[in-house]
Formats: sequence, structure tokens, C-alpha cells
Amino acid sequence: MKSRILNIVGARPNFMKMAPLMRQFATRRDRFDARLVHTGQHYDAQMSDVFFDELGLPKPDIHLGVGSGTHAVQTGKIMVEFEKVVETEKPDLVIVVGDVNSTMACSIVAAKAWVPVAHVEAGLRSFDRRMPEEINRVVTDALSSYLFLTEEDARENLRREGVSDDKVFFVGNVMIDTLLHLLPKAQKLDTLQRFGLRKGEFALVTLHRPSNVDQREPFAGILGALETIQREIDVLFPIHPRSVARLKEFGLYDRVTGWPRLKLTEPLGYLDFMNLMSQSKLVLTDSGGLQEETTVLGIPCLTLRENTERPITIHEGTNLLLGTDPKRIETEAKKILTGHAKKGRVPKFWDGKAAERIVEILAKKL
Ligand code: UD1
Repeated sequence: MKSRILNIVGARPNFMKMAPLMRQFATRRDRFDARLVHTGQHYDAQMSDVFFDELGLPKPDIHLGVGSGTHAVQTGKIMVEFEKVVETEKPDLVIVVGDVNSTMACSIVAAKAWVPVAHVEAGLRSFDRRMPEEINRVVTDALSSYLFLTEEDARENLRREGVSDDKVFFVGNVMIDTLLHLLPKAQKLDTLQRFGLRKGEFALVTLHRPSNVDQREPFAGILGALETIQREIDVLFPIHPRSVARLKEFGLYDRVTGWPRLKLTEPLGYLDFMNLMSQSKLVLTDSGGLQEETTVLGIPCLTLRENTERPITIHEGTNLLLGTDPKRIETEAKKILTGHAKKGRVPKFWDGKAAERIVEILAKKL
């Protein structure tokens, strides 16, 4: 008997996590009927389409076309549309990845329809419920029957919330599967030249967390630090649509575009971004995924947040958690620029085989 699995993607960070799973399922067509569902949470070409091409993700079998909205509107629309899909497709399992609204919305629908949920990247906790992703993680994990961990710290978080150990599997990091798979291809591109940058002589920045960009003060503070840093080194800032809208709203856009060595650019595709990240001197970010990718690449990462749900990138990796104090950001960036960067090592099972382990477990359990 083939098991029918609905695999959910919605927003940018989902695509690189799902790609290796779809690749594994494609090698087991005898055993699995794996279908891809795109909720449409992200819809711009640069936030969605480009990843399908580059990651080799199959065209979605089902597209919910949900789009943007407040949290309740977006989550609600996904639930309404996905419920219809569950009714007609009758899946044996729903797989969700990460912590975006699509992850939680589809988990709720599946669990209420008595369809087991597998959560890939389970158990991560920032312990900050002002972060929408933290709510998504807690709810998704509470409803999941299979919880696949990227790091062992997560196991304790789940125990504390009463999740029984027999549902929990430490398998490694599917996003790193994609990184290791595509890095050679990314490094062949001429991205650096196209942006007029030199290897090891630029900083790469991403910022999109509501806590950093939705209010003027923290956003302006971080930008102040970037102004100082760009006096020392070229800075490339591929900017998320949310952040560019806020820059304009706060009247900061013209100021930022006037700094000579800081360049704003639209969000980049996966391969261009990996090309740049792997050759950068340092990364400044509030992303979750980048903390992990820099750790594997051995690139120093300054995380501009008060907390992280990915503590292993601090204990073992190249990540430093800085908050948003401009002076602190400038000081730590300076240390890196003067040759005093933190060194790290690659965490266990971040080896390119996480999806293989997951599919192996599912083949036994389903
Ligand atoms: C979402 C995820 C976040 C993830 C991020 C990566 C949630 C709660 N948040 O945040 O965890 O790190 O994706 O990008 O799920 N927009 C566009 N084009 C798009 C998508 C969005 O212009 O293709 C704009 C819209 O104005 C939208 C805003 O960005 O309102 C925010 O999009 P949304 O999906 O709500 O959250 P993100 O900030 O992207």
C-alpha cells in the first residue's frame, strides 16, 4: 500500500526545507504518493517562484492562492482552503516544515480531520511569545504525531511541554541538506562580480522580523549601526518586501540609499544568496535559517535579536546573539573586521542526510 502524503509549503523559508524531502520521496514512488501543496502565503516571483526553479521543487500539485493578510485572516484563509484539500485527497500524513503561519494552519486542519502531522524542525523555542513564529511552533508541535529534530536541545523543550519521547526523532537539518546539495552550483555563479563585490570583503545583511522593522526606533537604530559599518566595508542588503515598505513609511529610504558603500537590492534567489553568503566576511541578520547556514559555512553571524530558538548555533556555531543596541553591533562587527571572529564547528547530523533519515523513519512507521 502506498501512503499518500501532503507536503506543505507557504513562505520563503519553507522551500529549501521541503526540496530534499520531495527528492527523497521521488526515489520511493513504490511506497509513497507524495504531493506538494503551496498555500500561497508568499507569492512574489522573488519570494516564491525563483525557489521552485533553483531548488528543483516540482510544480505544486495544489495551490491554495491565499496571499497576505493579518495573522488571523491569513491563517483562517489557509485553514478554509486546506480543509477542502484534506477532504478530497484523504492523506495518510501531512508534513509541515518550519514555523510560518502556513505550518500552523495546516497542522490544525489535519489534526482535526484525524490525519497525523509530521513536523520537520520541531521543538525549537525562543521562549518569546511576542514572536508569531513561537506560537506557530508551540501549536504545531502540540498537534504533531512525528516530531523531527534538527538539534538535541529541542528534545528537552518538547519533554517540558509533555510530548512523549516515542514521537520524537533527531534526524538533523533538512535546510542544510539543500545547502550542501546546491553549494557547488551556487559557487559557480558570477554573483559577486554582478554586485561589484570582492570575496571576503563585504558584509551581507537581512532584516525582516516585525520586532526589528515594524517600529521606527529599533529599525533606525540598526540602520545607524549599518551606516557605521559601511564606512569600513561594503554592505549588501537584499531587502524583504515588508522591510522596504517600512523604510519608506518611516521616511528612512532616501537616507539609506545615500550611503556610499551600502547597497539595497531586491530579495535574491537561493543560489545567488548562497554564492554571496559563502564568500562574505560577516552576516548580520534576524533570520532563523541564516544562523544555521552561516554555522555550516563557517561565516561569522551577528544575530540582531534578543533571543534565538536555535541555541546550537551559539554553543557550537559561529553565531553571536547581540540584540539591537547599535553600539554593541558596531563593536562586534569591528572585532570581526579586525580578525577576531568567533570560530565554530558543524553540529551533529547537519550532514546532508536529514531528509533521507526522515523518509526512512516514515517508511517504517506508516
Ligand atoms: C513570513 C514568516 C516568517 C519568515 C518570513 C520569511 C509568518 C508568521 N512569518 O514572514 O517566519 O521568516 O516569512 O520571509 O509566517 N509580501 C510581499 N510579497 C510576498 C509575500 C509578502 O510583498 O510574496 C509582503 C506583504 O506586504 C505582506 C508582508 O510582506 O503583508 C508580510 O508577509 P507575511 O507572509 O505575512 O510575513 P513575512 O514577514 O514574510
